[in-house]
Amino acid sequence: MTQGTGRCRAHTNIALIKYWGKQDEQLFLPMNSSLSLTLNAFYTDTKVTLDQALKQDVFLLNHQKQSAEQTLKISNFLDLFRHKYSISAKICVESINHVPTAAGLASSASAFAALAGAINEAARLNIGLQELSTFARRGSGSATRSIFGGFVEWQKGTCSTDSFAIPLDDAAWDIGMLIVVVNHREKIISSRQGMKRTVETSPFYPAWVKSSEKDLVEMKKAIVTKDFSKIGELAESSALKMHATMLSAQPPFTYFEPDSIRVIQRVQELRKKGLECYLTMDAGPNVKILCRLTDMDKLKQELSTEFSQDQMILSGVGSGIHSLSENEWLL
Ligand code: ADP
Ligand code: DP6
Ligand code: CO
Repeated sequence: MTQGTGRCRAHTNIALIKYWGKQDEQLFLPMNSSLSLTLNAFYTDTKVTLDQALKQDVFLLNHQKQSAEQTLKISNFLDLFRHKYSISAKICVESINHVPTAAGLASSASAFAALAGAINEAARLNIGLQELSTFARRGSGSATRSIFGGFVEWQKGTCSTDSFAIPLDDAAWDIGMLIVVVNHREKIISSRQGMKRTVETSPFYPAWVKSSEKDLVEMKKAIVTKDFSKIGELAESSALKMHATMLSAQPPFTYFEPDSIRVIQRVQELRKKGLECYLTMDAGPNVKILCRLTDMDKLKQELSTEFSQDQMILSGVGSGIHSLSENEWLL
């Protein structure tokens, strides 16, 4: 295959049982299995063009040509497909993030799921979704889960071929997330660096892995029984335990900002008052609040005394990757 175009949309996902640490950095094999909810509010659209005439790969993000370093990251990812499927063409990647980049809102998840989907389409590879998730994984661990919609498990597996995502439930229930954007700027410590430092230096790390495994079993049960309260409690606990491993790393670090703590306190207060909501946070200061869709407007109203309208984004559940027609691209 020397020519071809593919366009794909992938939504971000937010882990309810977090992935934080790799046992194999080259292959992106995680220390523990994780579980997420795909969101419809945030996504990446990516177009891939195979072009024999190009001298080197080109990578445009949000219409801007990216640095040699960022382009190399993309080229290395594309090489996984080129090697396996004997593709020689250089590739032009054009991607639009409908999510802030590198701000702890999971842009790397939608990014590599969309890129994997777009190359699958462009080179007519017909890779099935489960296997495609193993490719997405090699770009960013969290991207493994963005291949699918709803509640998704990333089974850590034993090797590169069986560390993949499986869809658990479409989550078409009364559930959603309100995202409080505390800061949308790029973080200083990437997820990759943060988790590496934690694995290498936190004395709490082994306890994190052990308790995540237990939490995952409980979470899967809570999903089967549609037990919203249990899902929320486990999600909040997983996130806060993950953040505790960062405070205990050497040198210590945190993604919390003063406003993150304000949101955490508000969520816990509101819950006491009977509005059931639970928080989760990733490698960034922004807080995601799991709530019932039917409570979302109320929750937004409660928070609007402290946060502005444009800081609060409401999201329902997102679907898995899908290809885009030429007309849908850049809409
Ligand atoms: P986030 O919290 O946004 O996932 P990460 O540190 O995990 O932050 O990943 C951010 C990195 O993901 C960016 O620096 C860039 O390398 C990559 N990335 C983000 N968006 C895209 C995209 N649309 N296409 C390709 N790579 C992307
Ligand atoms: C805190 O998937 O962004 O969001 O695999 O190194 O690219 P790399 O990291 P990334 O890490 C995500 C960490 C997290 C938790 C999660 O999404 O499970
Ligand atoms: Co990421």
